Amino acid sequence: MKKLRSALKTKFRNSIKIVGLGKYLPEKVLTNFDLEKMVDTSDEWITTRTGIKERRIAEGESASDLGTKASLIALKRAGLKPQDIELIIVATVTPDYQFPSTACCIQKNLGAKKAVSLDIGGACAGYVYALSLAWALVGGGFYKNALLVGSEVLSTITDWSDRSTCILFGDGAGASVVVPAKSEAGMLSSYLGGDGNFGDFLILPAGGSRLPASKDTVKNRLHYIKMQGNEVFKIAVRVMVECAQKALKKCGLRSEDADLLIPHQANLRIIRAVAKRLNLEDKVFVNIHKYGNMSSASSAVGLCEAYEEGRIKKGDIVVLDAFGGGLVWGACVIKWI
Ligand code: UT7
Repeated sequence: MKKLRSALKTKFRNSIKIVGLGKYLPEKVLTNFDLEKMVDTSDEWITTRTGIKERRIAEGESASDLGTKASLIALKRAGLKPQDIELIIVATVTPDYQFPSTACCIQKNLGAKKAVSLDIGGACAGYVYALSLAWALVGGGFYKNALLVGSEVLSTITDWSDRSTCILFGDGAGASVVVPAKSEAGMLSSYLGGDGNFGDFLILPAGGSRLPASKDTVKNRLHYIKMQGNEVFKIAVRVMVECAQKALKKCGLRSEDADLLIPHQANLRIIRAVAKRLNLEDKVFVNIHKYGNMSSASSAVGLCEAYEEGRIKKGDIVVLDAFGGGLVWGACVIKWI
């Protein structure tokens, strides 16, 4: 028994490493100037208050379509075939269906017959949650590898007549393949948290078992994102700073040890405030101007794009830091192998 316990402990301590990254952004670009024609807003207001200039919009493509395209790139870069994949975790708030899961749809699209497939919530922190879960399951020896996907078609749950939210969101998908890491590097730590008491601040009220779809819910536009932006903003800055600090502390590091901070891309003012408090203003990755807030896809695309742009090199300490509806939050520290 003692032996088994120590064997399990040793196995569970195994790290994981990311061996393939992919992203897919739909072609259609919706600029702030386009939005000026749709609601009472201006490019100047959106740019100064959010940092967003344009976002992508999926036309006739679902979360699994976007996720499949990102996954094919990640798999190719990982040198793995879909049939090799043992676990697929998809983070999304815009699933193709309530069921089957979007992970099952992606499994089917890829022909990843062997893969156990599941969706998780986690909203904008969904990719950080997926990565942490994969660490437990792949690092723990339950699966040899995992495909992690953050995919969102937020345009389908955006109220295009509500100027306080419709300017924020965009569609996209990011994917990554993880395998066990033999060295001490790879995933170094994860810190996750949340507080359901703040659930009403960012919510899609109707369409679930609490408020099933009806003529009234449709008439009252309750199938769209509702957000108390100011409240979310204040909490976001505080928890993102705390998350990054706690995740770094868990692996014996401090913020000055980080080479790159990849924060959730919800608002440039939030990103700047967090980076300033962490003293990482020169080491922060930003792509919100191109894509807006893509919820779970923001961190996944951010990591992929940062790597593609050469911002991540072997040995670098990368911090992923996110928060979202729940409210939930989380950070992961990775030493790039
Ligand atoms: O990942 C999910 C988590 N979400 C977030 O992190 C979002 C966090 N919150 C935010 O990013 C910001 O709160 C917003 C960008 C949503 C709003 O920015 P704000 O600086 O908090 O603006 P506000 O809501 O306090 O509104 C200021 C003014 C209001 O007008 P009055 O009442 O001062 O006359 C709004 O009606 O700006 C008005 N306004 C707009 N004006 C032009 C709100 N939306 C718009 C708009 N265009 N799109």
